[in-house]
Amino acid sequence: MTESDAAPLNLFDFERLAARRLPAMVYDYYASGAHDERTLEANRTAFERIRLRPHVMRDVSTRDPSTTILGRRHPLPLIAAPMAFQRLAHPDGERALARATSSLGLTMTLSTLATTALEEVAAVATAPAWFQLYVYRDRALTRDLVARAEAARFEALVLTVDAPLLGRRERDARNAFALPPGLVAANLPSAGPRTLDAAPGESGLFRYFASLMDQSLTWDDVAWLRSITSLPVLVKGVLRGDDASLAIEAGAAGVIVSNHGGRQLDTAIATIDALPEVVAAVAGRVDVLLDGGIRRGTDVVKALALGARGVLLGRPLLWGLAHEGEAGARRVLELLAEELDLALALCGAARLDALTPDLLA
Ligand code: FNR
Ligand code: LAC
Repeated sequence: MTESDAAPLNLFDFERLAARRLPAMVYDYYASGAHDERTLEANRTAFERIRLRPHVMRDVSTRDPSTTILGRRHPLPLIAAPMAFQRLAHPDGERALARATSSLGLTMTLSTLATTALEEVAAVATAPAWFQLYVYRDRALTRDLVARAEAARFEALVLTVDAPLLGRRERDARNAFALPPGLVAANLPSAGPRTLDAAPGESGLFRYFASLMDQSLTWDDVAWLRSITSLPVLVKGVLRGDDASLAIEAGAAGVIVSNHGGRQLDTAIATIDALPEVVAAVAGRVDVLLDGGIRRGTDVVKALALGARGVLLGRPLLWGLAHEGEAGARRVLELLAEELDLALALCGAARLDALTPDLLA
């Protein structure tokens, strides 16, 4: 047995396994960042740079990793990030991820650009799920997506605000990324927005965003969104304190510090570096979450110590799906939960509210 055939011990092992299994076009789409991939890299190096100053002798014989987000208890401070096109990873795609997250009582965020219709995902999710929204220029279409998400009992909307255009991922341009026959953007009602047309030397998804998404969005559109739904709206893609305050003034129920996993503006600040300014500006008014580069239990500890209520996990879930469908995605979540539990014990933190900024050097 070679090292790479052994049971995966951590989230990086899952990426290696998935890289061997997935077609290059799919692996590249999932793995890549924008341009020189500096922000993709920075999301990791920024976590690695932060050192912990653990407490000792604090009775960690029972540990509680649960947190409260939007007023509801989550058994772990982990949520599945919205990620498009999950049936590229495994035939069961979004449904497999919904089952995996639900089996641990965790929330999944379904992308607007899912390859499974939101009603079908809602039918298999047994834990509350969130719906991520991209705002199309066609506002009637957008309004219909929101109404369907509400009717299907999604618990919250996640409005992604960092993608008026798609970041340029050069691997996707080289591969002329497109969906293979049989897969469509299943939430969209009509042929145009359901399909991605490839063109030589261009990402079909880049073209899709440029032609269909609304580049005119401002904070006033958050008020518009709130006027058409009673669901709470989390704003995803904030990297500055002033924008976080504007999001709250516009009615956001939560702010997600995110640079889209390094896939949008390259050389944008790492999310863990942006978090303290956002937490200070928000000043407890709403919940703050973070995503980007979470791969170890200690990364979760660092984000929570700096004031996040929880984190969203992205690519590792796709690697889990690619490896073994529902079971692989669940194993990814379990590994991260086990690492978090160990990190809490070794930091002298029996509960998440013991994670405070003084734990970090
Ligand atoms: C994403 N992300 C994303 N975000 C979003 O709001 N809507 C979407 O449809 C997608 N699609 C998507 C596809 C793929 C393949 C990836 C890798 C990412 C961004 C995602 O929600 C999240 O911000 C990052 O993935 C978090 O970083 P890590 O954990 O992947 O490093
Ligand atoms: C991505 C889009 C779909 O990052 O959000 O690929």
